[in-house]
Amino acid sequence: MHQFPADFLWGVASAAYQVEGAFDSGGRGPSAWDALCRVPGAIENADTGEQACDQYGRYEQDAKLIAGAGAKAYRFSLSWPRILPEGTGRVNASGLAYYDKLVDALLANGVQPWATLYHWDFPLDLFHRGGWLNPDSPKWFADYTSLVVDRLSDRVQHWMTLNEPQVFLCHGHIDGIHAPGMKYSRPDALLATHHALMAHGRSVQAIRARARSTPTVGWAPVGETRIPATESKADIDAARKSMFSVEDRPGWMFNNTWFSDPVVFGHYPDDGLRVFGRDVPRFTENDLDIIKQPLDFYGVNIYQAPTISAESAPHHVKRKTGFPHTMFRWPVTPEALYWGPKLLHERYKLPVYITENGLASMDWVHTDGKVHDQGRIDFLTRYLRCLRRAVADGADVRGYFHWSIMDNFEWAEGYRMRFGLVYVDYETLERIPKDSYHWYKKLAESNGASLPEQPAKLR
Ligand code: FCB
Repeated sequence: MHQFPADFLWGVASAAYQVEGAFDSGGRGPSAWDALCRVPGAIENADTGEQACDQYGRYEQDAKLIAGAGAKAYRFSLSWPRILPEGTGRVNASGLAYYDKLVDALLANGVQPWATLYHWDFPLDLFHRGGWLNPDSPKWFADYTSLVVDRLSDRVQHWMTLNEPQVFLCHGHIDGIHAPGMKYSRPDALLATHHALMAHGRSVQAIRARARSTPTVGWAPVGETRIPATESKADIDAARKSMFSVEDRPGWMFNNTWFSDPVVFGHYPDDGLRVFGRDVPRFTENDLDIIKQPLDFYGVNIYQAPTISAESAPHHVKRKTGFPHTMFRWPVTPEALYWGPKLLHERYKLPVYITENGLASMDWVHTDGKVHDQGRIDFLTRYLRCLRRAVADGADVRGYFHWSIMDNFEWAEGYRMRFGLVYVDYETLERIPKDSYHWYKKLAESNGASLPEQPAKLR
């Protein structure tokens, strides 16, 4: 039987704007997400993260809930404008004190803090100064990193710089459905991307220079995964090629390599340079040296993937009518958790952590007062069996963070769908552990042994 390695890390995840609430208390400054939430029509049901789950007020209870789910680690993010209300300069002491208390509560409950420095809540004042287009933005981010590391690195050893740069750059700056809601031209979007990648590099430098004990540093990009239609060499090669190409899609730039090749290899991919052509910003070798910093792990968020067939010419396989989909309309594709980490590890040769994976559903409290989310248990069973097989086949996967510990503010979708192991009543803020919470506890405590055996075929 395939097994997870003995020290495999089972964790749960969240992000500041999605769970904290307290948007205008404790001295927090405004973020670009606060601003977008006020734009009529921008967010489903005009929802906002202003209250969210009030983790800010309930972190002690939440730390216990996290430990109770069997999680040995909590991936959370820090709100930049809670710490620096204007993004630079003036420090908000109570913002830093909040993260002190959160970290202490986690440690008191036996949970390792895994801190993400940027999960999308960009300080609004810095957006008004040009945001990621401003060439000072890498320095702003490095200064913020230094402040956080000086304060927390006596207790926090695991750091991630940027969450899903693809999403905040493409959805935030090209199609505008995420904050700051911009529709930049491609040259501007590529310039913002270049600065964000430099911010990553400068942040890694700051962590390594200042951490009080040896840090473990990574980042958490999207895993743009591809699943081969069969396990034939031709299909696997086609999937790999598609997964590591920059496709020529006017007005779009979602891919792995434009983001991860510079970060890991220190250069932009050749096909991307060709596709983006004159839209690529001017950059220097020194910029690339800054972007390429040694990383201890490759974090990756994987929820779904298209299937690629090599038959005739390589193409995306059309899904049959009635193919299972989540509330997000994402297809249920467990094999993404096999091919994603396997091919990413093969290319980038770094230990992999699945920093996010989970199911969007519409759970409710049943007549017996409990939340029976059998769909989530089935989803996780399927996905995690595939992850286990990836490990058995040699992918160096060190841990898995479930998205999310609790239902929360799902960005442009508001509160319509629920990703949590814990149900949140948004009126009373009561937390109700779902069936999947208890299931996850068993899974984590048995290091995956409670998962049913792998079927002969992945599907
Ligand atoms: C990812 C985000 C995370 C959450 C999940 C569902 O793109 O990183 O904050 O919204 O999707």
